[in-house]
Amino acid sequence: SPSDPDLVERARAAKEKLGNKVFVLGHHYQRDEVIQFADVTGDSFKLARDAAARPEAEYIVFCGVHFMAESADILTSDDQKVVLPDLAAGCSMADMATAEQVAECWDVLTEAGIAEQVVPVSYMNSSADIKAFTGKHGGTICTSSNAKRALDWAFEQGEKVLFLPDQHLGRNTAVRDMGMSLEDCVVYNPHKPNGGLTAEELRAAKMILWRGHCSVHGRFSLDSVNDVRERIPGVNVLVHPECKHEVVAAADYVGSTEYIIKALEAAPAGSKWAIGTELNLVRRLANRFAPEGKEIVFLDKTVCFCSTMNRIDLPHLVWTLESLAEGNLVNRIEVDKETEAFAKLALERMLALP
Ligand code: 13P
Ligand code: SF4
Repeated sequence: SPSDPDLVERARAAKEKLGNKVFVLGHHYQRDEVIQFADVTGDSFKLARDAAARPEAEYIVFCGVHFMAESADILTSDDQKVVLPDLAAGCSMADMATAEQVAECWDVLTEAGIAEQVVPVSYMNSSADIKAFTGKHGGTICTSSNAKRALDWAFEQGEKVLFLPDQHLGRNTAVRDMGMSLEDCVVYNPHKPNGGLTAEELRAAKMILWRGHCSVHGRFSLDSVNDVRERIPGVNVLVHPECKHEVVAAADYVGSTEYIIKALEAAPAGSKWAIGTELNLVRRLANRFAPEGKEIVFLDKTVCFCSTMNRIDLPHLVWTLESLAEGNLVNRIEVDKETEAFAKLALERMLALP
């Protein structure tokens, strides 16, 4: 929808007034009306890496979700303040692993006698608490663009990986990129005693996958892929690795949001693409590449926007920028010092991956 010209003007004016004091980061899943004000756009890896790129900025306005803002706070200096325009912009996947549940899981692994062999690898889409747990236990963070490199590293440190919280990214990376079999993976269910697994099953597994998933990407199905292939002969199916294994196995290409954009930039005119990721991004790419004769469709029309990404809208951004311009610090995201120290360890291990 076209953005309200009055709000666009207010956002522009507030941003201009703030000048170098503000640095606006925007994830690719953000609305067009918001992304137009981002100084840097990116996938979650690029945004984590670039968060500290403007040390002179007093405020970092993060147009994305809560775990991304936490990571930006962890990776920037103490006098830079990270602001999330709507505090209700969480991530249902990140909420699927709590600190208590993960501590309990570690006890289960200890009981089974395998904790010493296990290296935790946590997806960026997790709370700062989970990242701190990961750092404390010698593990690393990964994103969808470096999951293979993170697993390569982890298997140099230990024999098994506890992958949190996205079972699909964990399984897809293990099976597609690391040559493991589905039988090498078990799923730990935090709602069942002992994760629903026996000590024997845990000892036999290479990948212990947390039972979490993305509520958006989890809705693409094998039928979505089969239907689009039937509807659009010659279509290239390109999906995000948060999709289920059967969807990823049936797709032609798999990658992070940044990878998806690059693939479409490189695609020849006349090519046809069905994309399985968040709808704001797919729509933007469809509009951007239509003049070049690239046909881009959403993999499954019954799947909707990421509702939490969508919470950051132009009114929230205007309110945030105007508040900051008037000297009112609103919606600050601040991770406590102890959590930050261990979470930073895990994030820095990711940033140092080859
Ligand atoms: P990437 O931007 O790393 O591809 O991740 C997408 C996502 O789901 C973030 O929540
Ligand atoms: Fe979380 Fe999925 Fe939304 Fe990404 S798309 S923020 S993983 S719910």
